[in-house]
Amino acid sequence: MNKISIIGAGMTGSTTAHWLAERELADLVLVDVVEGMPQGKGLDMLEAMPIIGRDVEIVGSNDYAATKGSDIIIITAGLPRKPGMSRDDLLSANAEIVGKAATETLKYSPDAVYVVLTNPLDTMAYLTMKMTKLPRERVIGQAGVLDSARMRAFVALETGVSIENIQCYVLGGHGDEMVPLTKISNIAGVSLRDYLPADRLEAIVNRTRKGGGEIVNLLKTGSAFYAPSAACAQMAEAILKDKHLIVPCAAHMQGEYGLNDMFFGVPVMLGRKGIEKIVEYKLDADEKAAFDKSAASVKETHEALKKLVKI
Ligand code: APR
Repeated sequence: MNKISIIGAGMTGSTTAHWLAERELADLVLVDVVEGMPQGKGLDMLEAMPIIGRDVEIVGSNDYAATKGSDIIIITAGLPRKPGMSRDDLLSANAEIVGKAATETLKYSPDAVYVVLTNPLDTMAYLTMKMTKLPRERVIGQAGVLDSARMRAFVALETGVSIENIQCYVLGGHGDEMVPLTKISNIAGVSLRDYLPADRLEAIVNRTRKGGGEIVNLLKTGSAFYAPSAACAQMAEAILKDKHLIVPCAAHMQGEYGLNDMFFGVPVMLGRKGIEKIVEYKLDADEKAAFDKSAASVKETHEALKKLVKI
């Protein structure tokens, strides 16, 4: 059986475990600093397995040793946003937590693929890669799957078409400057630009960009977790099943799209080794301008990180 360890057993971590257990993909380990909490959630979930008929072992621990031999490490540890906060406001607190999670888990699972979810996402993935010194194939940031899913959900609400017919592609950094690609996003092959009136499409783009904030403002005490964790589960499945699935994720740029030494949301092919390929789309002038603006904003957060941590 494969093994997935999830660091941070809060809302996104434990919900990721829930989605993964449903898929019977791997045995699961939940690690958190809070004493008893990951153990309690792990045991509770384990006791649900007979009901849903899944042979999955789930354990919780406060000790990174429990993660030994993991195929995938999913990092969700850290603070979530509260109303009025940007993802970047989380930088210094989460850098310390994610840095430790990355280096501690690597000791026990030198061959794992890392999926990073903690915000500010692109920069936490960058930190994970720098601290572990892993090749870029093995450190992937979750964001594009979530942002694209939000856009797909909004298009479905607007049109009444099945979400199965709706494909959306949101690239760029996981912030309000993200880049929903409206030309290639489509409903059963028809571009959204042809399917929807311009003002409705613009409203969907804006709602997508602010999708995380919309949930934070409703929840008030934390940030979204169902859709972010479902995105992590889809990525883990694509990796473990070696699916060669192309989805937008944050990846380390090494010249692609004219970007270097930064994490950014681009279409990647996911398989057993992690990132198998980065797909380069042809962007039109408007999209390229939005892409560059988003890249500048992510780069700024990377620079702020470098002032905090020696990497
Ligand atoms: N090691 C392990 N777990 C930690 C550590 C640490 N050093 N520090 C904090 N944690 C745990 C907390 O105890 C908590 O259980 O991380 C968990 C975070 O859970 P929540 O507070 O419920 O936050 P969540 O909604 O899951 O978001 C976590 O993911 O989507 C991002 O922006 C979000 O950065 C945030 C992260």
